[in-house]
Amino acid sequence: MRTRGLLLWMSLCAFLATSALLSPTRHVIVPDAQAQDEESKKIVPYVPTPQEVVEKMLDMAQVKKGDVVYDLGSGDGRIVVTAAKKYGVRAIGFEIDPQRIKESHENIKKAGVDKLVEIRQQDIRTVDLSPASVLTMYLLPEVNMMIRPNIWNQMKPGSRVVSHDFDMGDWKPVREEHIKDSSGWEHTLYLWRVEAKK
Ligand SMILES: C[S@@+](CC[C@H](N)C(=O)[O-])C[C@H]1O[C@@H](n2cnc3c(N)ncnc32)[C@H](O)[C@@H]1O
Repeated sequence: MRTRGLLLWMSLCAFLATSALLSPTRHVIVPDAQAQDEESKKIVPYVPTPQEVVEKMLDMAQVKKGDVVYDLGSGDGRIVVTAAKKYGVRAIGFEIDPQRIKESHENIKKAGVDKLVEIRQQDIRTVDLSPASVLTMYLLPEVNMMIRPNIWNQMKPGSRVVSHDFDMGDWKPVREEHIKDSSGWEHTLYLWRVEAKK
């Protein structure tokens, strides 16, 4: 079975190999300090979610007027742009890579959603999730586990979390969906609802 989770893992291997080549301990040209800092914070490679899967993620989250959507590691901004364009909600993407941020700004402009969408250059591990009522993620299993305490401690009861391809350990999703994209890759989507603390 061809799954995009596998594709993300393969990209991760390539990404780790490249990072090792750029390591200052090797005798290669080292990028400037800021670029090196951004590179060292990058904990997930870029693999975009196909548009039909983006639509399904937002549909599963039952996005409605008044929601605030956060996408952690927002890539070219496709999830936040779609949330604003389709549902008219405020949406914020968090991304570390300047090239992806540039692409996001182009996509926001093209879609005419600049009043609703914002991209912040910020490490996803430092994001305060409390303003979000919907959180989307296409990260990696161990990164989901890193973010899990923040979801639990910061997000309000009733908030929805949708993860593309990776679960959150022993947190049982309220819904799991499988979707094939137009190129035949299979994707798994998980939905959780934040519960009130007892
Ligand atoms: C698998 S891609 C997902 C992109 C987008 N959310 C989507 O589904 O199309 C993960 C993204 O996370 C970004 N990223 C990796 N580490 C990050 C970090 N520490 N802080 C912010 N963004 C990060 C990468 O640059 C990449 O664009």
